[in-house]
Amino acid sequence: MDIFESRMNELYRLIEYHAGLYYDKDSPEIPDSEYDALVRELSELERDYPQYARKDFLTHKVGGSPSELFAKVEHEVPMLSLDNVFTPDELVNFFERVDLPEGSGFVCEMKIDGLAVSLVYEDGVFVRGATRGNGHTGEDVTANLMLVDAVPKRLKGAPSGRVEVRGEVLMSLERFNAVNALRESRGEKLFANPRNAAAGTLRQSEKNNHVIAERGLDVFLYYLVDAESFGVMTQGDALVWLSEHGLPVQSAYRVCENLDGVKEFISRWQNERYTLGYVTDGVVVKLNDLTAWPEIGNTSHAPRWAVAYKYPPEEARTRIRDIIISVGRTGVLTPVAVLEPVRLAGTQVSRAGLHNADEIARKDIRIGDIVRIRKAAEIIPEVIAVDVSVREGTERVFTMPERCPACGSEIVRLPGESAFRCPNRSSCLAQLKESLKYFASRDGMNIKGIGKKLAEKLTASGKIHALSDIYTLSLNDWMSLDKIGEISARNILAELEASKSRPLVSLITALGIKDVGKNTAALLVEHFGSVEAMKSAGEEEISAIEGVGPVIARSVHEFFRNDANLKMIEDFRAMGFMMGTKSQAVSNALEGKVFVFTGGLEAMTREEAGEKVKALGGKISGSVSARTDYVVAGDKPGSKLRKAEALGVRVIDEQEFLSMIIT
Ligand code: IVH
Repeated sequence: MDIFESRMNELYRLIEYHAGLYYDKDSPEIPDSEYDALVRELSELERDYPQYARKDFLTHKVGGSPSELFAKVEHEVPMLSLDNVFTPDELVNFFERVDLPEGSGFVCEMKIDGLAVSLVYEDGVFVRGATRGNGHTGEDVTANLMLVDAVPKRLKGAPSGRVEVRGEVLMSLERFNAVNALRESRGEKLFANPRNAAAGTLRQSEKNNHVIAERGLDVFLYYLVDAESFGVMTQGDALVWLSEHGLPVQSAYRVCENLDGVKEFISRWQNERYTLGYVTDGVVVKLNDLTAWPEIGNTSHAPRWAVAYKYPPEEARTRIRDIIISVGRTGVLTPVAVLEPVRLAGTQVSRAGLHNADEIARKDIRIGDIVRIRKAAEIIPEVIAVDVSVREGTERVFTMPERCPACGSEIVRLPGESAFRCPNRSSCLAQLKESLKYFASRDGMNIKGIGKKLAEKLTASGKIHALSDIYTLSLNDWMSLDKIGEISARNILAELEASKSRPLVSLITALGIKDVGKNTAALLVEHFGSVEAMKSAGEEEISAIEGVGPVIARSVHEFFRNDANLKMIEDFRAMGFMMGTKSQAVSNALEGKVFVFTGGLEAMTREEAGEKVKALGGKISGSVSARTDYVVAGDKPGSKLRKAEALGVRVIDEQEFLSMIIT
């Protein structure tokens, strides 16, 4: 492998990792400008060395590609995307280029920010649902769509033969907020926006499909395939047809006689769309006469009889009351503007990200300034520009603090980095709080219950000074934290106990080594096989691993040279964590005992419970027999419970099970 290939591989890893941190709203480790520089370097290398380029990489992806999780579905009629226009003039130009039939009308619909799906009904019965995928091949998500209440399983009037309809699966803002609130309370990663939440929910594996019904997806249909065969000649009538057959159709649409009517619709809904309760990012304008569609035709990817008018991101004006500093997991200080609350894109906004000190200087943002803010892709608002014309002279220039606002350490700025950092990795409580959230997150040790709030309480309580300290807290310690009852405290203890038997790759991810996410952690674990080997590796050996380059290698090497980190690892070792890839029974307390689970557990998944039993020398069986020692009956137990009772096998509840595995 030459140096270019190796650097490109490293860039792919780094970008994947930082994009994950950024898009999943976990605290980014590097400023946007550094991320952009990585992307720029990669695209230059890709241009010069196309033989090493990964065509399927996230920055090149157009739409999704079908995953291995689902069977593939070929779309007989391709599922196209739409061309975008951004001004009324561009809209008029778009349709002028098309030879429209005399007196054509249009249908305006809201452009819903969801996930495109195709639904097929046979004699009125729902038989197949698929995602768009790459437009030609999608994923068969029938089983999952069966669990979505909003998808009718039977059509009204049971039209005979095959009916294919298309539309958008989405999550309403109300459900989105509820789902994220729940995830936050469980310490799980938040969805960045309702679109991601809808896509993530629909594309669940069978194992997790119970979340689909719980989260409450919605669907709106807007396309009747082969409409003419049903005697439907216009898009307006197609929407009526869909609705009359019981398929949900969005309420905000209108048939317009001409482009003036279209413009009126667009301007009316620019602000009114925020009352709809779901995210829309534009208006789709379609030629009403659908019998003319085939002749007008498509480009390679989009129809020429329809176009998406995209609304500009909404802006608001407000005052910056203050600029505060948030300290991230790796000590990066990020300035955040505290705003006079203002409504923007349907929500109340009181914070805006300012990225870094250079950006504040470049935009000359001062405390007290009136600024224009905007929300891009529904995430955190950003400051576009200062209205200097209304400056009063009392505004204050912001300077980065010289000391960390959380721990008082002197701030450093490393050469070549635009970020300011608090160097106190081992005892800065702000970093510890963020590290703890990351440690407990799903990709890390997956400790349910430890999320933002609990991480805050824990660090504020003064009871922990290093990540490993959370394993030393007693039941009383947990119960002394505000609003933690005995049951929750016991559950957390059980969660912590179960987390000790997670594979090494989870621990290496959870440690939060700079630049090392779960993919890189997997490479390290695969190569070294143990913490011991990782610890003693030189930078060169680490950077020689495919997909790991000098930057990651330096981070890993430095991590294992730090005394506080080494002490923490020794603590984990003493507590019985997996330090290698071979599973090791920490104790043989359950030697030879056979367990059967029925019903759901609260503190952990059945898989995790199984791991725990095995780690203690026990066995798991799928069915109850005379050789079964214990049947663990969780929530809503099934027939195994009756069988256990009939055979006289000992039945225990979750609490008793937990007390057996906490040794
Ligand atoms: S019509 C060939 N109507 O936007 C017709 N699409 O950016 C294409 N979308 O892939 C679809 N709301 O997933 C249509 N009212 C609407 C829509 C809509 C959202 C999505 C659709 C499409 C994407 C294109």
